[in-house]
Amino acid sequence: MPDTKDVIPGADGAPGRSRIEWVRSGCRLLSSIAAEFTRTRPFDGLTIGTGIHLEPKTVALLLTLAEGGARVVSTGNLSSTQADAVEYLRARGVEVVGAATTDQAEHDEHVRQVIAARPQLLLDNGGDLFARYLAEPYPGLLGGTEETTSGRTRLRPLAAALEVPVLVINDSPIKQFAENRHAVGQSVLESYLRITNQMTNGRRVAVFGYGACGKGVAANFRNACASVAVVEIDPVTRLEASLDGFAVPGREEALRNADVVITVTGAESVITADDLGFLKDDVVLMNAGHFPREIAVEGLARAAGVVQRYDAADGIETLRVDDGRRIHLLTRGHMVNLAGPRPLGNSIESMDLGFALQARCLEAVAAGSVGAGHTVVPVPRFIDELVATSFLDRYGRSGTPPPTSGQPSSGHPGISGPSTGAARSTP
Ligand SMILES: NC(=O)c1ccc[n+]([C@@H]2O[C@H](COP(=O)([O-])OP(=O)(O)OC[C@H]3O[C@@H](n4cnc5c(N)ncnc54)[C@H](O)[C@@H]3O)[C@@H](O)[C@H]2O)c1
Repeated sequence: MPDTKDVIPGADGAPGRSRIEWVRSGCRLLSSIAAEFTRTRPFDGLTIGTGIHLEPKTVALLLTLAEGGARVVSTGNLSSTQADAVEYLRARGVEVVGAATTDQAEHDEHVRQVIAARPQLLLDNGGDLFARYLAEPYPGLLGGTEETTSGRTRLRPLAAALEVPVLVINDSPIKQFAENRHAVGQSVLESYLRITNQMTNGRRVAVFGYGACGKGVAANFRNACASVAVVEIDPVTRLEASLDGFAVPGREEALRNADVVITVTGAESVITADDLGFLKDDVVLMNAGHFPREIAVEGLARAAGVVQRYDAADGIETLRVDDGRRIHLLTRGHMVNLAGPRPLGNSIESMDLGFALQARCLEAVAAGSVGAGHTVVPVPRFIDELVATSFLDRYGRSGTPPPTSGQPSSGHPGISGPSTGAARSTP
């Protein structure tokens, strides 16, 4: 029995809350930006509409925006909303629309309600909010941000219609290497281990897609002693995977050999019912791409020859085929590192970096530091440099001791210094 004095309770009791506190206290960049925003108030008088996974790290981001004076109206993405996060946000004045859902129509209604609040700034994740805005435009939208590759692909053809700055966080080199490559790779491996409790050593893993995320996934499984093959439709990227030392078989050969199949492409129907015949007994299928359509789960479940569908364990659904094979699907094809039992998502530090980019980009849009020429474009270089320098300072990687929370980073007062808010005329 531990001595009671050794037992340190969570910050305010409930386990979910203490995890949120743990994450918030780990987000050193967001903590320092929040302290700065309480002084500079870049979002005074503005509503920010957000449509992003509601989990502990986004809690840290949304509360940072609220510290800057914003009214924050939020909803989650399909399937990833965590009840603790919603409760925590609501208790601190953030307006959260809806709750966790895997139903597309219900999710669409939540998005509609966020847009009905007529936010001046949008923080989007997958393009839902901007697409909805275009369906029913209103005056006063200043612009905003889009978090993902998939959202950028969706919004780029709509750029001319949007006519306001939309900064794509995904296209920052920092997001690419810190989150997409390193953090997604680590957390997908962590999710596989947590959900299946199976070893990786010697397992044959087929990774579909060798973009930034696929590179990290392939590297992390290789580092965990798996035998990794990459399936990639772009021949140049396939060559890169080959020169990085991965096998690059055709998709059918990869599927016939794989013990684990991971999709991380951003595309739809990468694995479908037509592939059922190729899959080995006991194969594990999982998706790390944004949309839950990379593995056509329902099509597979209804394919000829599938005789049974059952929940094998928390986060694992099994299809039994009439020839005796069992096909295991993790988290019903939703992003494996954000769905399923006790999802932790990407590392705190990687998300702190990405969300510092978010906060700084929204600050720049509110301040008018970027204009209509910045519609669906990468994060401006000055913001990347500001965030990179702050990270090196705050996490003690620059050779000098990190400043304590709330203290400004050396030489970086923010987007336009303490008078940022004055640069914008509130509509
Ligand atoms: N799980 C997470 O935490 C997380 C985090 C960031 C991004 N994402 C998502 O992961 C996905 C991939 O992101 P990315 O940044 O690596 O994208 P990317 O565009 O850089 O790379 C995707 C790769 O997949 C390849 N591809 C497309 N269709 C394919 C197919 N049918 N078969 C094989 N390869 C195919 C493309 O040629 C490309 O090389 C996106 O949906 C993104 O939104 C997930």
